[in-house]
Amino acid sequence: MSKMAKKPVRMSSKDFHCGGGDAPTRVTSVTTAIPGPKSAALLAKWKQYEAETTGYQAQVVWDSGRGVVVTDVDGNRFIDWTSGVLVTNLGHAHPKLVAAVQNAAAKLINNYECPTEARVRAAEAMVKHLPAHLDKVFFLTTGSEAVEACLRIMKRKTGNFEIIGFEGGFHGRTYAAASIGGLGGPKRKYGPAMPGVIRAPFPYPYRSPVAGGDAGLIDYCMSRLEDAVRYSSTGSIAGVFTEPYQGAAGFIFPPKGYLTELEKWCRAKGILFGLDEVQSSYGRTGTMWAMDWEHITPDVVSIGKGIGNGIPTSAVAAKGEVISCLGRGEMSSTVGGNPVSSAAVSAILEVMDEEHLVENSARMGKVIMARLQQLQEKSRYLGDVRGRGLIMGMELVKDKKTKEPAPDIMKRLIDRCAEYGLLIGSVGIWGNVVRVAPPLCISQAEAMESCDIMEKALLSLES
Ligand SMILES: Cc1ncc(COP(=O)(O)O)c(C=O)c1O
Repeated sequence: MSKMAKKPVRMSSKDFHCGGGDAPTRVTSVTTAIPGPKSAALLAKWKQYEAETTGYQAQVVWDSGRGVVVTDVDGNRFIDWTSGVLVTNLGHAHPKLVAAVQNAAAKLINNYECPTEARVRAAEAMVKHLPAHLDKVFFLTTGSEAVEACLRIMKRKTGNFEIIGFEGGFHGRTYAAASIGGLGGPKRKYGPAMPGVIRAPFPYPYRSPVAGGDAGLIDYCMSRLEDAVRYSSTGSIAGVFTEPYQGAAGFIFPPKGYLTELEKWCRAKGILFGLDEVQSSYGRTGTMWAMDWEHITPDVVSIGKGIGNGIPTSAVAAKGEVISCLGRGEMSSTVGGNPVSSAAVSAILEVMDEEHLVENSARMGKVIMARLQQLQEKSRYLGDVRGRGLIMGMELVKDKKTKEPAPDIMKRLIDRCAEYGLLIGSVGIWGNVVRVAPPLCISQAEAMESCDIMEKALLSLES
């Protein structure tokens, strides 16, 4: 549970939701071909000057955002189901965040390794919002940097060097983060990967290799974990590091009880338990932290994305007795904890409380989930819909019986959705999972409008 007492509901400023709250006013409007002429020209220039290393996205050039609505340079308006990549939990350009960042920047943009009032306030606010056992934070800049910090603390605290990660796990693109991750992409031709990584399977209920439902799958994964240690460890395990649900692998949620089992297993072995909450935190899953689901108590936690809503910042949170293994001068970051990002950290937490975004995430998540489950019945390709709060995955398959992944439909669906006014992205081991991750401020009307668009777009590809 968060250390913060619940505060009374205060609605966001009226103009923030382009949809005007829950009134059934259409907020999307696409009046050009996609890409529109200005987008097409900018996309061509982008291709000329910046290396083309990113994944496929809707062919629109974003100009501005307000709440859940993004306007492109051609004046088309879309509902955003991406939040960047699960970053803008407050919604785009929240007035309180914008003002906090502008005011801070006008005063002092950077200093190094010393407190400012903004930094002290941000640290206090974060610790007060964290579960009680996590009493220290340290500010860094990216999610990957926070992950690297967690790994370093785990190794330093135990004096051991092995880390147990999971097949399908994603923790970022820096060396150690990519090494413990269980996806090929981030480390392809970047080997040899970091020594000391032991990998075990993560439960994937839709593609469970065993019978026995959730309990059978948990047992299977726990026994494979035991095997991984038996066959691969040199006897120097620092701990387990995992996402609470696997993000990049396709929003794979483990069965209830798995994380509790995993923590128990760590405690029984006397090793540390590290949790990567870079994307799962800040209300995304309908609770402030994913660790709140089962009240697990990880020793170290990496936090990113929603912590800054687009202002580059991240943090490691830890038990004081664990992070104190690092002495003076042993952890630092050039722009980590700068006054501007610190002001953002505090403003974001205030808005989350004032606008009850965690609760809205849980509520709107149910609304969207119900619509997607109805769509699953109608659609030939929609094999699985899963998630929690405002993070859901729609897994596309060629055949619901064989569950053969259908990544080829994804690009067409991204384009079709954009033509109808909805921005989506893809994830998944096979690139066949739609990211359903709107900003947490989405209203009922916006949720329904966006589901209408998704339904029309998906079914139009099936006729
Ligand atoms: C679970 C998780 N960990 C770490 C990262 C890396 O964060 P960043 O891209 O900010 O380095 C990501 C990014 O998607 C993530 O989803």
